[in-house]
Amino acid sequence: MGVVENSKLCVVGAGSVGSSLAYAALIRGSASEVSLYDVAAPKVEAEVLDLAHGTQFTNARVGGGADLAVVEGSHVIVVTAGAKQQPGQTRLELAGTNAGILEDLLPKLLERAPNAIIVLVTNPVDVLTVVAQRITGLPANRIFGSGTVLDTSRLRWLLARRAGVTTSSVHADIVGEHGDTEFPLWSNARIGPVPILEWRGSEPFTRPELDEIAYDVRNAAYQVIRGKGATNYAIGLSGARIVEALLGDEHAVLPVSTVLSGIRGLEGVALSLPSVVSGDGAHPVAETPMSADEEGLLAASADAIRASVATLGM
Ligand code: 2OP
Repeated sequence: MGVVENSKLCVVGAGSVGSSLAYAALIRGSASEVSLYDVAAPKVEAEVLDLAHGTQFTNARVGGGADLAVVEGSHVIVVTAGAKQQPGQTRLELAGTNAGILEDLLPKLLERAPNAIIVLVTNPVDVLTVVAQRITGLPANRIFGSGTVLDTSRLRWLLARRAGVTTSSVHADIVGEHGDTEFPLWSNARIGPVPILEWRGSEPFTRPELDEIAYDVRNAAYQVIRGKGATNYAIGLSGARIVEALLGDEHAVLPVSTVLSGIRGLEGVALSLPSVVSGDGAHPVAETPMSADEEGLLAASADAIRASVATLGM
């Protein structure tokens, strides 16, 4: 994969997610310059050094530090800053703390890089996407969340293993909240050209089995957090994938979280739907087909996100 020429990515937050995202972006060649910003100077300086020491083996420039000047010139800013889930805690429980962080941070970032596209990775990502869009007043395509790109990758991995095909031959998406109300669009899921329930392989999928796979995807982060305290590698790769779709003007369809204005009657709430990601940001695909049940689940997911936004009193 070639590096996207003359493109600067700034990752905000040098915790495990931010550092892994920067590392993934370097290795994948998602940008020609990767910069890491954090208020904690010793930590960010150490992470930048560690990344820079590997540049013999990558094609991108590395920089960063605790001075906001490192944000200048960024085409894409990925925000990972914020409190993370403790074992057993839900993403929604982080809303108040992390909304406060964004209120302080976003105006400062935009002052330094007024034309950047902003991708939020901090949780609860859908709630914070609504908050961030209100704080900045940016159009919804220019400030959006990583959403269910990661959950979709988890889903495709599980389906690919079970079907005995490569992950890229699985066409299936998780939509809705990046959280406990997310769900797969089974009505459209396919292995190669075959609708999932018609796939034969060694053994066909059953409805209960698909329910179990959806359950495992929903609970994947809890499982990883129980074992190692955080998730970082797969979200790092997911973030890097979104960045290269933006910087490479790919028009790739990815399930990111945007503030909706009218799709399926949803207004002013952010959640993930397959969206076209290009140099112009993210635009949800309005005509994404759904069964009546799935439409109901999407409405319930939107209600959960709305309720959480309402508790913030914004
Ligand atoms: C994840 O799904 C915790 O949101 C993070 O890995």
